[in-house]
Amino acid sequence: MTKPQQALCILIFSFSFLVNLAESRLSIDYYSKSCPRFNQIMQDTITNKQITSPTTAAATLRLFFHDCLLNGCDSSILITSTPFNKAERDADINLSLPGDAFDVITRAKTALELQCPNTVSCSDILAVATRDLVTMVGGPYYNVYLGRKDVRVSKAADVEGNLPKPTMPMSQIIDIFAKRKFSVQEMVALSGAHTIGFSHCNEFSGNIYNYSRIPHYDAHYNPRFAEALQKACADYQKNPTLSVFNDIMSPNKFDNLYYQNLPKGLGLLESDHGLFNDPRTKPYVELYARDQNEFFKAFARAMEKLSLYGIKTGRRGEIRRRCDAFN
Ligand code: HEM
Repeated sequence: MTKPQQALCILIFSFSFLVNLAESRLSIDYYSKSCPRFNQIMQDTITNKQITSPTTAAATLRLFFHDCLLNGCDSSILITSTPFNKAERDADINLSLPGDAFDVITRAKTALELQCPNTVSCSDILAVATRDLVTMVGGPYYNVYLGRKDVRVSKAADVEGNLPKPTMPMSQIIDIFAKRKFSVQEMVALSGAHTIGFSHCNEFSGNIYNYSRIPHYDAHYNPRFAEALQKACADYQKNPTLSVFNDIMSPNKFDNLYYQNLPKGLGLLESDHGLFNDPRTKPYVELYARDQNEFFKAFARAMEKLSLYGIKTGRRGEIRRRCDAFN
């Protein structure tokens, strides 16, 4: 190679490196030029949806958590299965993710595609919708850096063992978060998400029925609460949609009552009780139960971190035209 050719190669290499760098840089105002009404469209969409379907905030927060934990916040959870591919959302644990969460993302994407075609990623939409909905129901605001891209892979087979289940021992739950560099304290703060939303009876029926010993339920429950749950879920086998609020004291408000419930035996899931009964997690439950401000600060920090977990930028991903299918 001659000297001028070498110089040209170096120039081309440096240029493409710089383009890549610029492409992969995240920023809060990423869409300010390419889609100036991005924030307004997001706000309008989530406000309309949350007012007509108040379960949307909790639904979307859980959807986002399940998307991020599995290989990053790349909207792989939104893809529908095809005859050739069973997608993440059809893994058993994800079957209870509510339709309202998917719907709010579809609505936002449709509105954004009309204004600025092929510009805003589904992953950014999901991250911002989650933050805006959490804030709308009283939770803390946090920054969401934008510029995520969407992926082309979504496999149900990858899910098993990577998302926490209420029946898992606390060590296994801690481990799932630790593998993704989330500390025990961050895990406890994120679990404060259970201050909103609900759980289906089958998620905790094993803890309230069929105990041969007295009491006839898991002794971590407050007795009156356990009896109320037994009644509320009595028909759950015939009617699998039966469900109970995660935070019975203030189910629709994002606050710290979830933590205050736990020492009183008013936690709903076995894993909720576990947070108070395990010496590694208990101090943080007590801290957040005492001090809502501390909880909000920790939750906001952990959500900002979760929102960046495993994201794809630049050429490592694409902008999907539809959020539920590869195009
Ligand atoms: C620590 C381990 C966790 C376990 C074992 C767990 C498990 C569960 C289960 C079984 C449900 C009930 C689902 C249903 O019946 O529809 C649920 C609901 C929920 N989870 Fe978790 N979760 C955990 C952590 C988290 C985290 C970290 C977040 C978010 C940052 C979160 C957000 C939610 C929300 C918002 C709901 C209510 C969903 C709705 O109302 O539709 N969870 N969780």
